Parts: sequence; C-alpha cells; structure tokens
Amino acid sequence: MRIGILTGGGDCPALNAVIRAAVKTSIGYGWEVLGIEEGFDGLVHCRTRPLTLASVSGILHLGGTILGTTNAANPFCYPVLENGIKVEHDISDQVIVNFRRLGLDALIVIGGDGTLGIAQKFYEKGVPLVGIPKTIDNDIAITVTTFGFDTAVNTGRDALDKLHTTAESHRRVLVVEVMGRHAGWIALHSGIAGGADVILIPEIPYDLQKVAKAIIDRDNSGKHFSIVVVAEGAFPKGGTLTHLAPKEAGRERRLGGVGERVAADISELTGKEARVVVLGHLQRGGPPTTFDRVLGTRFGAGAARLVRMGLFGQMIALLPPDVGSVPIRDAIATMKKVQLDNDILESARNIGISFGD
Ligand code: F6P
Repeated sequence: MRIGILTGGGDCPALNAVIRAAVKTSIGYGWEVLGIEEGFDGLVHCRTRPLTLASVSGILHLGGTILGTTNAANPFCYPVLENGIKVEHDISDQVIVNFRRLGLDALIVIGGDGTLGIAQKFYEKGVPLVGIPKTIDNDIAITVTTFGFDTAVNTGRDALDKLHTTAESHRRVLVVEVMGRHAGWIALHSGIAGGADVILIPEIPYDLQKVAKAIIDRDNSGKHFSIVVVAEGAFPKGGTLTHLAPKEAGRERRLGGVGERVAADISELTGKEARVVVLGHLQRGGPPTTFDRVLGTRFGAGAARLVRMGLFGQMIALLPPDVGSVPIRDAIATMKKVQLDNDILESARNIGISFGD
C-alpha cells in the first residue's frame, strides 16, 4: 500500500503534528508514504518525496508545514498565463493520471473548505481519499473545532494582553484586526480571553454610533482607554466588506483593512486617538498549543485509520468524546459561523462587551 499526503490552502499551526501522526500510523501499518509538495500543485507537477520516520522526527512543535502549501493551485480552475493574462483551466484529469503514475492507492488531504472542496470533486472522479479539516478560522461545519484555531486565538489574546497597557497609558482606543474570513470565531474567543471592550464580527453587522457610545460610556465611567477587536470579515450595517485587492484568478479575494476604517470612524465620532494593529499572518505561525498538538495527532492518526478501513470520501472530525468520520460533502456544505443564540455571545454581553449592535 502506498499513500500520499498533502497540505493545501493557508498554513496553520499543528499541520506538522498532523503529518507526523499520519506518517507514523501509516508506517506502523506497513505502508509506504509519499509527501506531495505544495498541495494539489504537487500532483499537477508530480513533486513528491518519500516520508519516513526520520522525515517526521522533530517536527511536532514546528509551525508551518514541511510539505509546503498553496491556496492558488486548484486543478479544477488552475491559473495559466495566456498572452500575459491569468486565465483558469480545468486540469483535474492530469492530476488523476499523475495519481496513478505515482502508484498511489489512497490520498490523505489536509485542508480547509477550499481544499476539501477540491478533494470532494476528486473523490467523485474516483480518487480514493480521506480529508482532515484544517483552519485557524474554525469555520468548518460538523467538527466541533479544527486544529490551529486554539493557537491563533492564543496569539490574539497575547496581543490584547500587551496592547492593554499601552492603550491605558495613552488613553487611546486600540483597534486590533484579526483573521477568520467570514466567521467571527477568532475575534470572539481572543476578544473574550483578552478582555476586549468591543468585538465586531461578520455575523453581527455593526453600527459605528453604537461602538462610539460604548467607548464614550467607558470614558465617562473613568476608563479612558478601550480595546476593540475587529474580525477581518466584519462590516457595517448596510455596508460592505473591506478587501485588500481585486480578485485574482484561481484564488479567493483577500479580506483586510476594516480595522483602519473602524479606527478612523471611532476617532471622528469620539474625538479620541485610535491606533490599529493588524495581527495578520502572525496568527498562522509559531509553535502550536498543547490542545492543537493533541488534536492534530488525533486527526492525523485517525485519518490513517479511515484509509485502513476504506472509508473514502470521509473527513475525520472531532465529535466528543472521540474523533469520528463524516462525509466530506456534508462538512463543506455549509460554513460554521457564530450562531446568534450561542451562549458565548450571551456571556460576552452579560459582562458588558459591546458588539456594536
Ligand atoms: O483561512 C485562513 C486565513 O488565514 C484567513 O483567516 C485569511 O483571510 C486568509 O487565510 C489569508 O490568506 P493569505 O495567506 O492568502 O493571505
């Protein structure tokens, strides 16, 4: 038995923990493992390398992925330069030819909703594969959580701890923009853990007048500084998302810049000085937390067990108290957003956090 492993989409803390566990488990079963480099692009160009026990030794605590990754190489709409312009082509059949040429019996695909969507299409075309959900955004449905989220939240919380003192010294408003795409999980969890006063998430379009009122009320109560956490996908009531650049062929449009907008509006409405910190890719790096290392290990080993049982088209998921499997199709059918009747939201409101609504 020869299996391939690839990591696709944005990288995420604990990817290496997952790879290590999947490789160790597979080798334990007597299989040969091929690492596919840079996601599905490695299958487009047959860029692979053998993964042995030695290859995965000493990587548990490392951020990133030893296999490399990309979020700009979807074989179903692969970007190709034609007359200097990037256009999208379906080269998925070539990938299937290469899968067979490499002598692979199965594939373990580690990725977020984009990569798992590609995996589902290959499964429907006959490729035996299993999925492992990966994202700092925690937006994949059915699994209770994904590895990487806890580390990203810790990075956000650590930043808020540090920003509190300088905000207080200067009586400023510190606006912290965090990642998460169209889900507010990172903002919500890091905001609560880091003592934010205002949290703006995509699920609750904000009203700047309400945000300003929360800050002025704090000022009047003797708290002359405020911490505002803004998810990159947050937007004002009746308004639009903020993007960094126009859409490029073969990849999602990049979100970013809402923090600047919010800070400028807060200054104008409150008369207070505001500063912006964009945490950006810091949230994707660094050593994974204990939780993510354990979850990554469970997911990696669990996926190899799914292959052994022949449960193709399935994704490993955290379904407490165990990991279990769900169809990839079901997991990618909807995005897991913060529910408005979630007790976390209610508790945050109970302790006085404003959501600007
Ligand atoms: O999905 C993970 C994520 O980090 C999002 O939170 C963010 O919007 C996006 O990826 C950033 O992607 P890139 O690495 O292409 O800038």
